[in-house]
Amino acid sequence: MQNLTALSLKTELGKLYVLDQTLLPQQQKWLLCQTVAQMIGMIKALQLRGAPAIGIGACLLLAYRASVGESREQLLQDAEVLRAARPTAVNLMNNLDSMVIALQQADFKGAAIACAEHLFAEDVALCQRMAEFGAGLVQDGEQLLTHCNTGGLATAGVGTALGVINLAHQQGKNIRLWVDETRPLLQGGRLTAWECQQLGIPYQLICDNMAAMLMARGQVDRIFVGSDRIAANGDFANKVGTYSLAVLAQYHQVPFYVVAPHTTVDLACTDGSAIPIEQRHADEVRGVSGGFGSAIWAPEDAPVFNPAFDVTPAALVTGWVLDSGVYSPADIAAGVLQQFNN
Ligand code: MRU
Repeated sequence: MQNLTALSLKTELGKLYVLDQTLLPQQQKWLLCQTVAQMIGMIKALQLRGAPAIGIGACLLLAYRASVGESREQLLQDAEVLRAARPTAVNLMNNLDSMVIALQQADFKGAAIACAEHLFAEDVALCQRMAEFGAGLVQDGEQLLTHCNTGGLATAGVGTALGVINLAHQQGKNIRLWVDETRPLLQGGRLTAWECQQLGIPYQLICDNMAAMLMARGQVDRIFVGSDRIAANGDFANKVGTYSLAVLAQYHQVPFYVVAPHTTVDLACTDGSAIPIEQRHADEVRGVSGGFGSAIWAPEDAPVFNPAFDVTPAALVTGWVLDSGVYSPADIAAGVLQQFNN
């Protein structure tokens, strides 16, 4: 396997390493990943997270397992088990579908390695194209807002929504970014803030419940978010809290864009109600934990509702920034997503 390097995944001398995102920004620790159980554990714990990154990580692990002599039958079983690691991001299932086709080739070992390397390189290219299409929407001097983490940590490339924002910044547009903290797991406060610092993007961190006030004051010109799955009608799932931002954006007439590669489109879901939503552990809401330590402030047994994602209806979206262009509500209503039969 080639040596590959992304912000959260790398291969060196044929071995796969995952950056433990639960420890960021306090620590940068790379974890060696050699077994399916380790990969599933890392995905479930969000040590490896972000829709494109989990799909590519799972396929790199299968390529590694093929390279150390695992049988085709075992690899096919492993692919099925990996598919269930997280339910919402369809990139995982789409990438594993590609890997299963590779595993059916006569030279399944070579094909598995080539497939994982291709998915990695493809995601780098898709991120770059989304960034170019999306950055074209951003005007000099705008104040932008984003939710969760959609940067290099979540993909093999420059990211989805944060890739757009970073390119607009690199183009010399005098942008400022509001970063939603993103409760309960703080992907904005821990990861996007860290990436913005690395990239030199001028940003300010806010608690999720501050976005409404900023919009009311005219301090948000445009919102970019990522997605874990886009249904055929343009409804999409993303980190919980995205839907409330979209409602606020419509009320305040702030343009609201979703940025995702075509590997995030799932035509099997006719609308957002068909997207499976992952429910996570109650302690994530009862308190916080991470590289900074942990604290539970709610009563130990407080009943909790903890969906990891919510669904934003297409009616609230100004534009879908995909790797092939920016699509309007009229494009989506005309069925433009039908071409993305992943
Ligand atoms: O639970 P996470 O941190 O994996 O959620 C990630 C998101 O919701 C991102 O916005 C989404 O994966 C798109 S990122 C390229």
